[in-house]
Amino acid sequence: MRGPKATIHLDRLIANYDQVKSRINDKTIMAVVKADGYGHGSIPCAVALESYGCNFFAVFTPEEGIELRDIGIKSDILVFCRIDVNQLDLAIQFNLTLNVADPSDVDALIAYYKTNGQSPQFHLKIDTGMTRLGLDMNAMNHVVQKLVEHPELNCGGIYSHYPYRTSLFELTAAAGDVILVPGLVRTTFTVSNFKKISKDK
Ligand SMILES: Cc1ncc(COP(=O)(O)O)c(C=O)c1O
Repeated sequence: MRGPKATIHLDRLIANYDQVKSRINDKTIMAVVKADGYGHGSIPCAVALESYGCNFFAVFTPEEGIELRDIGIKSDILVFCRIDVNQLDLAIQFNLTLNVADPSDVDALIAYYKTNGQSPQFHLKIDTGMTRLGLDMNAMNHVVQKLVEHPELNCGGIYSHYPYRTSLFELTAAAGDVILVPGLVRTTFTVSNFKKISKDK
């Protein structure tokens, strides 16, 4: 092979995982192994991390998630890309967690539930300034209202991709009026409590 080559030492990956883990009070780490682990090999990285105790991975597409399922990854897998209504069956079949990043995504899930009587698990994605994907605060209010009306939908969490470290505090300040109804998400919290569940301490 011509050109630069990166050699990934899995023992060092694990040592880095340990370093991060020791700084976040043993909270859950979601290892992002999208796009073939940014070209570093999603499969060997995920296998090594899972066997070491990591139980949450993120990929970009459902196909990437299925690739991990096919080699036996049992952990939660979050899919970053926009929901494709044609892939909701796959999400259920392979137990992939989708992300709701637009109000129309909720409509698609409601329609899917009406036809199939099931909802794939999903997290709400909030845009805190990265501006690529996610609900702004107005859309968030709208989506939360819809989820209150549709408790059959399987909302398992809420997340954001911070554009920079301090956006966490901006979100906390900006989101005071957005309340997630207790019971709607697995853990009861308000968006203004986001800091409490964040690993960015
Ligand atoms: C570390 C990490 N987190 C989250 C995401 C999700 O990105 P986006 O902000 O486009 O949803 C990505 C890129 O896909 C990423 O590399």
